[in-house]
Amino acid sequence: MALYEKRKCESIPLDRGFFQRVPSVYLLCSGRILSLRSGTGEAMSLTDFPAGAHPSPSGFPLPKVTMPALSEMKRQGKPISALTAYDYASARLVDEAGIDLLLVGDSLAMVVLGHENTLAVTVDEMLHHTRAVRRAVRRALVVADMPFGSYHGAISDAVASAVRFVKEAGAEAVKIEGPRIELVQALVAAEIPVVGHLGLTPQSVHRMGGYRVQARTADAALQIQADAFALAHAGAGAIVLEGIPREAAAEITAALPIPTIGIGAGPDCDGQILVFYDLVNLTFAPAAKFVRRYADASALFRSAIEHYREDVEHRAFPSDAESYHLPESARRLIQASRDDEDAVVNRDAREELDQKTNRR
Ligand code: KIV
Repeated sequence: MALYEKRKCESIPLDRGFFQRVPSVYLLCSGRILSLRSGTGEAMSLTDFPAGAHPSPSGFPLPKVTMPALSEMKRQGKPISALTAYDYASARLVDEAGIDLLLVGDSLAMVVLGHENTLAVTVDEMLHHTRAVRRAVRRALVVADMPFGSYHGAISDAVASAVRFVKEAGAEAVKIEGPRIELVQALVAAEIPVVGHLGLTPQSVHRMGGYRVQARTADAALQIQADAFALAHAGAGAIVLEGIPREAAAEITAALPIPTIGIGAGPDCDGQILVFYDLVNLTFAPAAKFVRRYADASALFRSAIEHYREDVEHRAFPSDAESYHLPESARRLIQASRDDEDAVVNRDAREELDQKTNRR
């Protein structure tokens, strides 16, 4: 979290909760102490935020991203950045880096929970992760993926599940896979913004016979375009296009009134999304063609963990400086009580010896 110079803080009204720097501790202007350490029994800093949206580098809050704001970005030709996140720490990094849309994707079934595909994850599990993400995010639009089975039956049941994401987890939109037009209409009527998802839809893995690039024929490309139009017409606010040829995605993007967000759909979409774990190489599988690795967190974490293990094994961790110490006064008291105990023991031993000597 950026810590703001006093100079900047003074130029901003104090009731906005911005930081004020004072010697040795950082105070929030709200008056709460921002501890720079955690896990010590002191006040924790992890969930302290400046009130309202994140401040930009200029010191002023960035406006919250909303679903209509995404359409405005399309209108202005501004690319939309999106990433998945599944927990508080990664969501906070993603949000503070200025990513516009944060998807709590059901890909968490694979990258976080270790399932073979996305089908097993439940509504309750998705809610649990969405809540963690929601606590971290101030600026980005938070979209929750509806998991497999939660919207494939009666529309009223699907709407009830979607309501849980908004009500219980703070999602600002839900994402559903496939051209489920009636459902999108029902969700929008229930005031729940919807992101559609077309092309390679991972919840259809069994029907597709694997994770294959879709819309490779003219008919299939035209069908996806028709589905995209139908979703937009039904009220979807944006559509994820996954695993389709660049040309098909470009046509859809140019024709559609709402933004497209591509993953494996080429550079002509209105925005791009990647799975966070792919971006930082925290998956244990070869990357798909469309993935660009921006960091190697696996190598970084592995080396940190191995280093730690070695330090523990060689008693090089923790050091004295990483230990807590008794205050001098307490040490002196303990020493004095030890001295007293020693004196008593010595006296007893002397008396015993004297008695033995006298007996002889
Ligand atoms: O679940 C997910 O991560 C997704 C993205 C790949 C779009 O649906």
